[in-house]
Amino acid sequence: MTVSVLTIDGPSGAGKGTVSRAVAKKLGWNYLDSGSIYRSLAIAALKQAADLEDEAAIADIAQAMVLEFDCGDDLIVRLNGEDITAQLGLESTGNTASIVAALPEVRRVLLQKQKDFKQLPGLVADGRDMGTVVFPEAQNKVFLTASAAERAKRRYKQLIEKGIDANLAQITNEIEERDRRDMERKTAPLAMASDAFYIDSSDMALNAVIEEVLNLIQ
Ligand code: C5P
Repeated sequence: MTVSVLTIDGPSGAGKGTVSRAVAKKLGWNYLDSGSIYRSLAIAALKQAADLEDEAAIADIAQAMVLEFDCGDDLIVRLNGEDITAQLGLESTGNTASIVAALPEVRRVLLQKQKDFKQLPGLVADGRDMGTVVFPEAQNKVFLTASAAERAKRRYKQLIEKGIDANLAQITNEIEERDRRDMERKTAPLAMASDAFYIDSSDMALNAVIEEVLNLIQ
C-alpha cells in the first residue's frame, strides 16, 4: 500500500516545524523532524568531545546513537536513554548540527533512519533534503522560505519571549552563515526539488501558510 508523504524543505527559521506539526496533526499523519536527528548527533558528538571534522568518528557516533521520539503535545527526545529535549533547541546545537550534517558519510548513515518514518497513514517530513534525497517519490512537496531578515526577527522574538538574552545582528549573521553552509555543501545541499511548490512566508501569517499547504494536499 502506498504511504502518502508530504515533504517540507527550506532554510532554518522559515516556520517549517510549526507548519509541519500543524499539518501532520490535522491529517493525523506521522511527523519527521529530520533536523532533530542532526541536532541529536551534534549533542552526542559534543558530549564525546569528538573532532567535528573527523568524518569516520562522527559517522560511527551517528550509527551507534539510539534515538527515541515521544510525540505527545510536547516533543521529548531521548538520546541513548537520556532526555536531551532541553539542549535540542539551542543555537549552538543548530550550528554544530549544520557542521556535522555536511559530512557525506554521516548523511549516508542517517538516510535509512529517516526513511523508516514512512509509515501509514502518512508522513509529513521536514528538513532540507526531504523532497530531493530522502523521499524523492513524495506525492506532495513544499519549499518554504522567508527572507533572512524576517527569519532572524522571528527567532529573536522567540528567544526574548522565552526570557533568553538575544542579539538581532548576531542571529542574522548566524542564520546567513548556516544558510550558506547548508546550500554550499556538496552532499544533499538545501535546494528546492524541481516538483516542489514554493511558498515565501516573509509576509504571511503562519496560519495562512498552514491553510495553503492543506489546500495543496486536498
Ligand atoms: O532544521 P534544523 O534547524 O533543526 O536543522 C539543523 C541543521 O541540521 C540544519 O542547519 C542543517 O544543516 C541540518 N539538516 C540537514 N538536513 C536535514 C535537516 C537538517 O542537513 N534534512
